[in-house]
Amino acid sequence: MNATVDTTVNPIYLVGGGKGGVGKSVVALALVDYLQRRGVKTVLVENDTSNPDVMRAVHDEIECASFDLDTAGGWIDVVNYCDAHRDAAVVVSTAARNQDGVTRYGATLGSTLAELGRRLVVFWVINRQRDSLELLRQFSETFPDAIMHVVRNGLFGAPERFVLYRDSNLRKAIEAKGRSLDFSELADRVADDLRSQRLSVRKAVETLPIGQRAELLRWRACYDAMFALVTGDA
Ligand SMILES: Nc1ncnc2c1ncn2[C@@H]1O[C@H](COP(=O)(O)OP(=O)(O)OP(=O)(O)O)[C@@H](O)[C@H]1O
Ligand SMILES: [Mg+2]
Repeated sequence: MNATVDTTVNPIYLVGGGKGGVGKSVVALALVDYLQRRGVKTVLVENDTSNPDVMRAVHDEIECASFDLDTAGGWIDVVNYCDAHRDAAVVVSTAARNQDGVTRYGATLGSTLAELGRRLVVFWVINRQRDSLELLRQFSETFPDAIMHVVRNGLFGAPERFVLYRDSNLRKAIEAKGRSLDFSELADRVADDLRSQRLSVRKAVETLPIGQRAELLRWRACYDAMFALVTGDA
């Protein structure tokens, strides 16, 4: 098998962040919406087995599978799933509790990327605290070949308030290969609707009232610009 990475094949996108509540699920929902609207065939690998919120929101729009990344077997399944879906972009949604499993078994995926012929593109979602960065450091050691982007979640403040990250050596290392990105905050009440009604962004745009829809479209335009910077669509 050809062991070079084919840059024309859709990547495997992993949305991580280690910590609970930093916005991994919301970024994964935004990414699925972005790829779908660009006509990219997309499948979801959901790893939050206790709260599969991203899968619940998108399962009737795209093919989804759920695996347990806390086990070696779960990672084998992810690799095989990526192999079986070479024609699709794979969005891997992870949960905070997967961090140990990612560190322990993530190399299973890392070591097969070349053979799969696929790039691993990581969106690492952070808040303004130090542990977000510690976890990123651990993660980047597990996946040295991944293209990593850090996503400053606007829920936690304006980009200039992420001072620990701004002043870190880690940022320099990230920006040598990837980018630091800014993810816009969505109005609370719309974010709450997405969550409580288990809506994908597409469904929310179709079903929510005009005011909420206007806010969704504003937010969508922000993340379209963000993802376009790193998916070659800019
Ligand atoms: N940019 C944002 N704008 C508005 N609300 C947000 C944003 N990011 C996250 N939230 C809200 O913050 C909460 C946590 O977000 P989310 O569930 O995406 O985090 P998570 O990292 O997936 O958490 P977990 O580790 O529990 O899976 C949710 O209520 C979500 O709606
Ligand atoms: Mg989540």
